[in-house]
Amino acid sequence: MKLSLLLLGLLTAIQASPAPAPVPAPVSAIEFRSPTDLSAREKVVSRTINLSSTLVIRDDEPWPVNHRTYTRTHTLAPVIIGTKTGYTQKVTYEARVGGEIRVEVHLTLTLRPSDLSVLVNYQMLLFEGTSTSTKDLDGKIEGSRRVFKNTDGMIKNTVHNTDEGGDRAGLELKVVNAP
Ligand SMILES: *[C@@H]1O[C@H](CO)[C@@H](O)[C@H](O)[C@H]1NC(C)=O
Repeated sequence: MKLSLLLLGLLTAIQASPAPAPVPAPVSAIEFRSPTDLSAREKVVSRTINLSSTLVIRDDEPWPVNHRTYTRTHTLAPVIIGTKTGYTQKVTYEARVGGEIRVEVHLTLTLRPSDLSVLVNYQMLLFEGTSTSTKDLDGKIEGSRRVFKNTDGMIKNTVHNTDEGGDRAGLELKVVNAP
């Protein structure tokens, strides 16, 4: 009798103070590190981002020729973005014209896994100097645009030579966010 009461008390004591349940680590696609970390709860996502760019570059010259305009198109290799390749990809391209102007376009594409939209951050740099390899940065702009899944987005902007002359470069970049 005394022993069974003791046992009962012991059992009650054990039940009253259960070991704390382990707190599961939050599973978020953002925390994904490498393909071997894939758990069944993480969805593999992938998007193909097609980029086609037109740069219209105006080279302002003093007398006798006032200015010249150059059009340069770039169809860039499709960018695969997602679980296996990384949620952020960088793309850079450039155009050199007129013997003295270089325009660089720097893109950072970031996938948002929850809605498969892609944020495009862009930077345009205009260099003007004695050659197209000049490090003389005369104009810079930045911007961003979100392109939702299965849609196209058009980025339009112009970088001006804010240092000298009337040189400028206009960008039209079509971004396709496809499966
Ligand atoms: C993306 O570009 C590739 C290769 O240029 C092409 O085969 C594909 O059809 C394009 N996809 C879309 C949705 O434009």
